[in-house]
Amino acid sequence: MKQIKKITCIGAGYVGGPTMSVIAQKNPDIQITVVDVNKERIAAWNDNDLSRLPIYEKGLDAVVAEARGRNLFFDTDVDKAIDEADMIFISVNTPTKTYGKGKGQAADLKFIELCARQIATVAKDDKIVVEKSTLPVRTAEALKSILDNTSNGVNFHVLSNPEFLAEGTAIADLHNPDRVLIGGENTEAIEALVNIYASWVPRERILTTNLWSSELSKLVANAFLAQRVSSINAVSELCEVTGANVDEVARAVGMDSRIGSKFLKASVGFGGSCFQKDILNLVYIARSYNLHAVADYWEQVIVMNDHQKTRFAEKIIQTMYNTVNGKHIAFLGWSFKKDTNDTRESAAIYVADHLLDEEAQIVVYDPKVSVEQIYKDLDALGTRTPEANRRLVKVVNDPYQALDGAHAIAVLTEWDAFKTYDWAKIKEAMKKPAFVFDGRKLLDRSQLETLGFKYYAIGE
Ligand code: NAD
Ligand code: UGA
Repeated sequence: MKQIKKITCIGAGYVGGPTMSVIAQKNPDIQITVVDVNKERIAAWNDNDLSRLPIYEKGLDAVVAEARGRNLFFDTDVDKAIDEADMIFISVNTPTKTYGKGKGQAADLKFIELCARQIATVAKDDKIVVEKSTLPVRTAEALKSILDNTSNGVNFHVLSNPEFLAEGTAIADLHNPDRVLIGGENTEAIEALVNIYASWVPRERILTTNLWSSELSKLVANAFLAQRVSSINAVSELCEVTGANVDEVARAVGMDSRIGSKFLKASVGFGGSCFQKDILNLVYIARSYNLHAVADYWEQVIVMNDHQKTRFAEKIIQTMYNTVNGKHIAFLGWSFKKDTNDTRESAAIYVADHLLDEEAQIVVYDPKVSVEQIYKDLDALGTRTPEANRRLVKVVNDPYQALDGAHAIAVLTEWDAFKTYDWAKIKEAMKKPAFVFDGRKLLDRSQLETLGFKYYAIGE
C-alpha cells in the first residue's frame, strides 16, 4: 500500500470539519482537503475571522488557525479533491428518510450513494474509501458494489471509521478519544488509517474489527447512551410522585462501578441530530430482519424521550392554572445542549411547539443560536404558519430583556452563564407569582425559593 499523502473529506459539517482539522493538525505531512457542495459553508470555513467558522466548538479556532493554509484546505471542487486523494472520507449527512419505504425510521443514504458514484466516476487510481458518517450495518457492502461496478478498473478498499465525538466537546474528544474504531477487510488499508490516528492516539486505544462490527457498534453506542438518558428520565417522573430526588438517586446508583456515573443527568429530553435518528435506524434494521422484540425494546427509548418533552410542557401549563394563553414565557436556551449552536432535534423546539398550541407568547434567549435558526426550526415543524410563529415567538439577544415582564421562565439548555444571572433583579422584573421551570436542574432551588420564586425542576 502506498503511503497516504493526500486525504479528501466529502462533507464539511459538524463531523467532517473538526475531525479533519485535528487529523491535519496532528499529521502536518499529509495534505487534507475538505470539500462540500454548500458554498457558504466552505466560505465560512475559509473566513479570516475565525469567530465566523460555521461551527462553534471550543478550541476549534486554534486548531484551524494552526493547520489551515499549511496542510488543511476547504474547497468546493469535489471532483478535483477526489482525483488527487489517496484516501477519501465520506462524512455527509445521513438523515432519517422523509419519504417512501422506511419513512420516519430508515437512514436516507442518497447522499452516501451520490458520493460513491462520484468517487467511482472520477477516480483514476486506487483509493481507500472511509465511512465516517454513521451508517446502517452492511452499508459498506453497497458502497463497494457501487464503487466496483461503476469505476474504470480502479481498486477500492472500504473501511468503516465511525466518529464518537460529542458536540460542545468535539476538539477535546478528538484530541483524547476513549477509542478509535476501524473496521475493514484489507489489512494494509486498515494499517494506513491506524497510522494516521497513531500520530496522537495511543495504539491500544485504536480498535480494529470487521466491517459489520464497526458499523453496528456506532449505532449501538448511541443507543446505549440515549437509553441511559431515557432510563434516568423515566426515574425522574417516579421521583416527582414519591418524594425521591433524581440527582440523589442517580448518584447512589452511579457510584456502583458496574453502572457508572456518567450520562445519568435527568433532563427535559435528549436532542441532537443523532440519538433519535440512530435509534430509529436500529429499530428499522431489527424490524427488517423480523426481530420485533428487539425493535420494540429500542423504540421505547424514543417513546420515553417524547413523553419527557410533552410532560415538561404540560407541567408548565398545569402549574400556571391550566392556561398559558397570552402569557409571556421566557425560554433560557434553545440549543440541544450547552456549548454548541446546534439546535437539531433540540427539546426546546418541541416544548415551544406544545406551548404555542396553547397560544403562549414565547421570548427566547440563547447565547449562541441565531434568530433565523430559531424561526427555521419552528417553521420546519409545519405546525403553524411562519407568520404565526413570528407573532407568537420573539427572539432577543439580551437575557434580561427576555425575562422582563415574564410570567414564567423555562430553562431548556444548561448554559453555565444562566447560573450567574442576577436572580433578585429578575424576580423584581417578572409577573407574580414568578415561576421557574428548570428542565435541566441547573439553578439553585434554595436560592430561588428564598428570593420568592415558585421553582419546579425535573425529578424533584
Ligand atoms: P452535517 O449536515 O453538519 O454535514 C454534512 C455535510 O455534507 C453538509 O455540509 C452537506 O452539504 C455535505 N454534503 C452532503 N452531500 C454531499 C455531497 N454529495 N458532496 C459534498 N458534500 C455533501 O452533518 P454532520 O453532523 O457532520 O454528520 C455527518 C455524519 O456524521 C452523519 O452520518 C452523522 O450521523 C454522523 N455523526 C455526527 C456527529 C455529530 O455530532 N454531529 C457525531 C458523530 C457522527
Ligand atoms: C452524542 C454522543 O455522545 C457521541 O458519542 C456521538 O458521537 C454523537 O451523539 C453522534 O453520533 O452524533 P451529542 O449528541 O453531540 O453526542 O451530545 P451528547 O452529549 O451525547 O448529548 C445528547 C443529548 O442528551 C443532549 O440533548 C443532552 O443534553 C442529553 N443528555 C446527555 C441528557 O439529557 N442527560 C445526560 O446525562 C447526557
